[in-house]
Amino acid sequence: MQIAVLGTGYVGLSTGVCLAEIGHNVYCIDIDERKIELLRQGISPIYEPGLDELLQKNIQNGRLFFTTSYEEGIKNREVIIIAVGTPQSEDGSADLSYIKKAVCDLSSYLKDDVIIAVKSTVPVGTNDELYQLLKDRCNKNIRVDLVSNPEFLRQGSAIHDTLHADRIVIGAKSEEAAAKMKEMYLPLQVPIIQTDIRSAEMIKYASNAFLAMKISYINEIANLCEVLGANVNDVAKGMGMDKRIGGAFLHAGIGYGGSCFPKDVKALLHTAKSHHVDFAILKETVAVNERQRRLLVKKAVSRFGDLRGKKFALFGLAFKPNTDDMREAPSIIISKLLTELGAKVTAYDPVATENAKKILGDSISYAQSAYEAARDANALFVVTEWPEFQQLDVKALLDVMKQPIIFDGRNIFDLETLNSSLKAYQGFEYYPVGKRAFIVEKK
Ligand code: UDX
Repeated sequence: MQIAVLGTGYVGLSTGVCLAEIGHNVYCIDIDERKIELLRQGISPIYEPGLDELLQKNIQNGRLFFTTSYEEGIKNREVIIIAVGTPQSEDGSADLSYIKKAVCDLSSYLKDDVIIAVKSTVPVGTNDELYQLLKDRCNKNIRVDLVSNPEFLRQGSAIHDTLHADRIVIGAKSEEAAAKMKEMYLPLQVPIIQTDIRSAEMIKYASNAFLAMKISYINEIANLCEVLGANVNDVAKGMGMDKRIGGAFLHAGIGYGGSCFPKDVKALLHTAKSHHVDFAILKETVAVNERQRRLLVKKAVSRFGDLRGKKFALFGLAFKPNTDDMREAPSIIISKLLTELGAKVTAYDPVATENAKKILGDSISYAQSAYEAARDANALFVVTEWPEFQQLDVKALLDVMKQPIIFDGRNIFDLETLNSSLKAYQGFEYYPVGKRAFIVEKK
């Protein structure tokens, strides 16, 4: 099939590359010339495992093209996928200005019957508005259908999630449009659920909000486990074995971040409020998350008292592993609070340092390795669970620190292993989330 994708962010680019990979001809359009130039050369502007290979392969196959021209990109296309950003506005609602502009811009170039598939996350009812915009602007002699086709991919596993999705959601008014969309996705062999447009829009928000709530829930359980002497990992495992609950998204830590959960939860709350629905459980989800992001600093304050002059190492800056994305990363608030309290912070992240510098500037220092960050530190904070941190020789790490103290916000170290290898390490203090602390008394 002939497909165009508008917007080459995480969602647009992963979708475009994967649709080319399953045999379609795909034009990706973006207004950012620099980005398009890089992409033409097979260089991805974002860090995403597996993306570069598929990008280069499909450019060489002659199935994947990049352009800044709407005219070139959408000519003779059967489906145009819209994947432009819908960032958060000041009031928590989704900012729809980019998507509205994209729809208006492309409408003047449409010359043949086409399906517009909206992948961007938009509040329930938005697609009806977009359809009206299209109808008002498009040539009346062509048939334009609009479908809602939300995306559920995770950063860091965007390619895998697109090629092996749990489900594909298609919200459509017309059966023909839905059938065409199903044909497009057929090679993926993924279950498809067809609904009306508003339900498809709601599935996206309801899913993300539910997952955010699941995380806040396990984080509250973790906080209770800590004071009661239970182990949240075992609790989550035991809960997750119940098929009605499921084991995913029960990893306790320092809260959710990223480009989706925080913004989508707030946008759903905004929608609820504007329709006079008090979505109390979701309000609390946000409040718990805000508290959880501060957890490590709170623990450091109760351990050290005054943080002035203390030196802390941050392990990880990205909001989660396998991405360089800093949006809503807990590392931001942690760095801010620590420096406000007079501490010096040195951070190490395998890939997100450059992006972090744009936000944190020189308020903190940046190291080239975990050991460099830990050198002479009074404590280290595990903020992002990068796999390389799990491989570290903990003893060697503690040896370079001023005080052998770890606040682990992601529970990357196993208590039993630490107990067997470091029970004689004098002064070692390990504070995980939702588990008893491990402390080796000084003799
Ligand atoms: C999420 C959704 O998973 C995806 O379906 C949607 O399309 C976009 O938003 P993403 O933000 O890329 O994807 O990352 P995800 O892996 O879902 O993690 C989100 C946040 O939750 C991260 O900050 C992560 O650290 C946190 N998290 C996740 C937990 O704290 N505990 C968990 O058990 C799972």
